[in-house]
Amino acid sequence: NATRRSYHEKVLDHYNRPRNVGSMQKNDADVGTGLVGAPACGDVMKLQIRVDPNDNRISDVKFKTFGCGSAIASSSYLTELVRGMTLEEAGKIKNTEIAKELCLPPVKSHCSMLAEDAIKSAISNYYTKNPLARPSDLAGT
Ligand code: FES
Ligand code: FES
Repeated sequence: NATRRSYHEKVLDHYNRPRNVGSMQKNDADVGTGLVGAPACGDVMKLQIRVDPNDNRISDVKFKTFGCGSAIASSSYLTELVRGMTLEEAGKIKNTEIAKELCLPPVKSHCSMLAEDAIKSAISNYYTKNPLARPSDLAGT
């Protein structure tokens, strides 16, 4: 059926040709790094964003995932999704959106959770390095 076919197509496409694999210099002031693990299985994802300080938009993004195919596909899809977004927009991405786009089965929802956790962690690392970029309503959180 169609759902099953699109699951295979989208996941396999991102798994076979993952977008934006790589790393950035984590000490660069305009780079935020997120490193997260999935307690359920031990898989690990590193996601890095480069932020344009003029408009707080993500100008570049790279990931490395040591994990299952769904985790790799989730992170690959996430990198395409967040490029060009403001940090505020990217921080609102829910794993359910990723799981839905890739048609992940429920048992694989924690794989997409890894991607949500990774972007949140990268954003918070960027704010730690660049406190003035943090929206004022989030100050102190
Ligand atoms: Fe096997 Fe994550 S549990 S790859
Ligand atoms: Fe654990 Fe996919 S099985 S991240």
